[in-house]
Amino acid sequence: MKNIWQQLTNAKQPFFVLAPMDDVTDTVFRRIVQKYAPADLMMTEFANADGWCSPGRQAIGTRLQHEKTEKPLIAQIWGIIPAHYEEMARDVVAMGFDGIDINMGCPVKDMIKKGACSAMIENPALAKEVISATQKGAGGKIPVSVKTRIGFSEINTEEWIGFLLEQNLDAITIHGRTKAEMSKVPAHWDEIAKAVKLRDKISPDTTIIGNGDVMSLEQGRNLAQESGVDGIMIGRGIFHNFFVFDETKTERNLATMLPILRDHVVLHQKTWGNEKFEPLKKFVKMYINGFAGASELRAEMMQTKSHSELLAIIDKTAISI
Ligand SMILES: Cc1cc2nc3c(=O)[nH]c(=O)nc-3n(C[C@H](O)[C@H](O)[C@H](O)COP(=O)(O)O)c2cc1C
Repeated sequence: MKNIWQQLTNAKQPFFVLAPMDDVTDTVFRRIVQKYAPADLMMTEFANADGWCSPGRQAIGTRLQHEKTEKPLIAQIWGIIPAHYEEMARDVVAMGFDGIDINMGCPVKDMIKKGACSAMIENPALAKEVISATQKGAGGKIPVSVKTRIGFSEINTEEWIGFLLEQNLDAITIHGRTKAEMSKVPAHWDEIAKAVKLRDKISPDTTIIGNGDVMSLEQGRNLAQESGVDGIMIGRGIFHNFFVFDETKTERNLATMLPILRDHVVLHQKTWGNEKFEPLKKFVKMYINGFAGASELRAEMMQTKSHSELLAIIDKTAISI
């Protein structure tokens, strides 16, 4: 049977993926996205394999929490100990995910200091061990992919992506910036196109997903045509337009967005209890923006200190629509 990357490549050119985003793409947000404007594939927030194989497992587990209806869904992991990748990959298979993705792109200092995530771009020996351990744990039951950048300090597409293409990976997502560039310069889609040519030569069966600065499906389709990627990943674009994955939904106003925010707040409280309320406010910014009266309403909502206070404002506002 074809794996999820091959299935998507065959079904749709390009296919569109919701990017993994720490503290954003949890089970609650993914279910809301799936209900109102679904992507073709979703990924979890990154989850630490070393923490998973320690007494801290429970805390890591919330990052992998998901419902069977969230499909297709890939678990993203990071860490530095290959044996932990293998163990976690085995568990990810048992949890019913459609694939496992290794984070080799995160530029955050704490991860780099440990030698994890984008630091692996400078340590291909460890990257190779980690990939091979993950493939062993996955046991051919689910595909293994890597999400990475085009270099660490300098652009190094040929060497780094060329190396990854020799690791028998099912897919590679390429964020078209170096680690040093963080998100400060426009993504280098010409380098992503270069990576596709390398793929055609070295490993034609590896799916390539391009990532960086895509704000609409139309832009994504144009970039896919120019670069040759199979899929497009969108991250921050969803903050600008929650309906980014469904271009038939063009109406963003109080009447369309308020029920979505309500749904999110209720599901969040049901899933996480009264904890994690402050991080929920970033979704107020996402849903309540870009229409008349949004900024005043948002300012009022941002003052709230609990789910019930926020729900009270939502319900009071709904009466006036
Ligand atoms: C808030 C936030 C959290 C992120 N967390 C992750 C993560 O957990 N794993 C990962 O691979 N990338 C993570 N990223 C990077 C995105 O997946 C994506 O590669 C990046 O935002 C560029 O794509 P965009 O221009 O479409 O946003 C994060 C980005 C943001 C903005």
